[in-house]
Order: sequence, then C-alpha cells, then structure tokens
Amino acid sequence: MKTSSSSASKRILVTGGAGYIGSHVVKQLGEAGHALTVLDNLSTGRREAVLSGELVVGNVGDAAMLDTVLGQGKFDAVMHFAGSIVVPESVIDPIKYYANNTGNTLQLLGACVRHGVERFIFSSTAAVYGMADQAMVSEDDPLAPINPYGASKLMSERMIADVAAAHPLKYVILRYFNVAGAEAEGRLGQSGAGATHLIRVACQTALGMRPEMTIFGDDYATPDGTCIRDYIHVEDLARAHLEALSYLQRGGDSAVLNFGYGRGYSVREVIAAVKQASGVDFAVRTGKRRAGDPAQLIAANARIKAAFGWQLRGTSLDEITHSALAWEKRLLETA
Ligand SMILES: NC(=O)c1ccc[n+]([C@@H]2O[C@H](COP(=O)([O-])OP(=O)(O)OC[C@H]3O[C@@H](n4cnc5c(N)ncnc54)[C@H](O)[C@@H]3O)[C@@H](O)[C@H]2O)c1
Repeated sequence: MKTSSSSASKRILVTGGAGYIGSHVVKQLGEAGHALTVLDNLSTGRREAVLSGELVVGNVGDAAMLDTVLGQGKFDAVMHFAGSIVVPESVIDPIKYYANNTGNTLQLLGACVRHGVERFIFSSTAAVYGMADQAMVSEDDPLAPINPYGASKLMSERMIADVAAAHPLKYVILRYFNVAGAEAEGRLGQSGAGATHLIRVACQTALGMRPEMTIFGDDYATPDGTCIRDYIHVEDLARAHLEALSYLQRGGDSAVLNFGYGRGYSVREVIAAVKQASGVDFAVRTGKRRAGDPAQLIAANARIKAAFGWQLRGTSLDEITHSALAWEKRLLETA
C-alpha cells in the first residue's frame, strides 16, 4: 500500500475505485499522498486503472469482508463510487439496481458505523431530479426520479442522511451532471461495453466503430430542438472529491451538492464538437424522443462553489471532446 510522509495524509477506502470516475479520484488522491484501499469487484472496473493504493477485489455488500478491510485500522474517510449505472438496464432489471446501489450502500454504511468512520463521500446523480422543468436545477428542487437507477441513488442519499443523523458521521453527497472526458495522460477513461453516453457514442461513430448515431428527438423546446445537458470533465469531478474531503476535514457540515458547470450544450452542439475534434463528418440520423429525457438539465452550482470556496471555471466542451476522442482511439488501438 502506498504511504506518504505528508502530515495531511489520510487513510481512505474507495469503493468502485477501478471504475471510470473512481479511478480518476484514486489517481488524484494518490498524488496528494493519501493512503488508499480500493475495494472493487471488477464487474465493470479494470485492475490496471487503479494507479494508487492497494486493490482488494470483493463485493461492497459483503459485510464480513468490509469488517476485515475497515478493521485494519482507523479510516479517515470512505468514498463510495461502486454501483451499477446503466439507466435502461435499471428499467429491465430493477432488482439488480436496488441490490447493488441501495442494498450494498446499506451494508457499507453499517460497516462504517461499526468501525467509527466519520466521513462519507457519495456519488449521486442528477437523475434524482427526474423530469426537471426549471432552467437550472438546484439542490432544493423536487426529487422525483423516473427510473430505478435514479430511485436507487436517491434511496441511498436518504439512508446516508438518516445514518448521519444518528451517528457521528458527516457526509458530502455529490450529484453529478453529465460526466465525460478522460485523463490527460491517456491512461484512464470510460471503458465499459455498450456505451450509451452521448459523447462516447459520438466519438465511437467518428472512429468508425458505429455506422451512424441517432439524435433522440429534435422537437424539444430548446434553440435547436435537441436536449441540453451540463457536461463536466471527469478530472474536474475527481478534484471535487478531494475538495469534499478537505471540506469535511475542516469541519464542514454534511452537504448535498450539485456538481455541474452551470452551462449547457445541445446534442447537436456536442456532435458538432466531436466532428470538429475528429475531422470526420460522420452520419447522424434523427429518431424519436426517448422516454424520460427532460429538455434541459443544467446544474445550479452556487452551493458547491460556496462550500468549497471554488471558482469552478469549467473545462471547455472542446477539451472534453478531444480528451474523450483520444481515449476512445487508444481503446480501439489496444483492443
Ligand atoms: N458516469 C456517469 O456519468 C455518472 C453520473 C452520475 C453518477 N454516477 C455515479 O458515479 C459512480 C461511478 O460511476 P462510473 O461511471 O465510474 O461507473 P463504473 O461502472 O465505471 O464504475 C463503477 C465501479 O464499481 C465497481 N462495482 C460495481 N458494483 C460493485 C460491488 N457490488 N462491489 C464492488 N465494486 C463494485 C465496478 O467494478 C466499477 O469499477 C456510480 O455510483 C454512479 O452511479 C456516474
């Protein structure tokens, strides 16, 4: 296990640290000198994506294994990324989502209480808002998820808040908006099969891995008729987790925080950016709307800026698409 002489060094358990977002956080935590234990069952994660710390291959719902891991010594914080994340799959197989996202989070919380963990940082999602109809979504807006994935994450949020009210545990719940991009050095990125996220799909189409891609609806009440989302670069999101850790270490109170840049791009704008980044004018067809897509989902982010004392400039869409394209190329070349 990596250790550091830094007095600020903390011992942290990272679940799901071999996955897309978790691996970027593990890398940055390692660079900051923290001592990490990564718990991942490698169901979608990659062993080689764990660039720091010790990897324990196991299930986050395994209470005995959690006791062994957390019993090794005092952990300063737990960061919980492990989960299942494919929205359409959650509709077909809701039990998988409630078991892995909600049930296993409950097991993890139980272990945190048993072992006196005092800081918990959780990956939540804008999907907890459901069909938001506000221009910008704030943390106080109605929570009305429209699929089992969003509901399973919202239930976890509720459990975390209830456990924290009863035990000496403080938390930061980060509600991510649309995560995209890859590590600048090209070692980490999103690698699961069957991509559904727009930027990945567009990059794969640009690289000839798909004959064409589809825009799901161009009759929304937006300037070009396609849906608008708040795309965030995964490295900025990873940094937010380190900020969340510092915030809790400074004695910050438990908080639920949106993480988005507060700006939106339409599907057509994203496709244009990928075409420009790749130099390929790939085929795009327009299909019907998908069920459950709000016209616009942009984060109100005043709360996270205030909590972390952050400017949060936001990475440009160009940089996001360039890094996503470079990563997808690399995956293709090494396949
Ligand atoms: N990717 C996004 O756009 C997005 C958006 C909002 C929220 N999130 C949340 O962020 C978190 C990470 O998502 P990601 O995109 O990195 O997904 P991912 O699939 O790349 O990573 C999840 C990781 O958790 C591991 N895992 C899954 N179930 C496990 C279990 N029971 N025990 C141990 N390990 C397990 C997987 O092997 C994988 O390494 C998830 O909780 C997800 O809900 C993701």
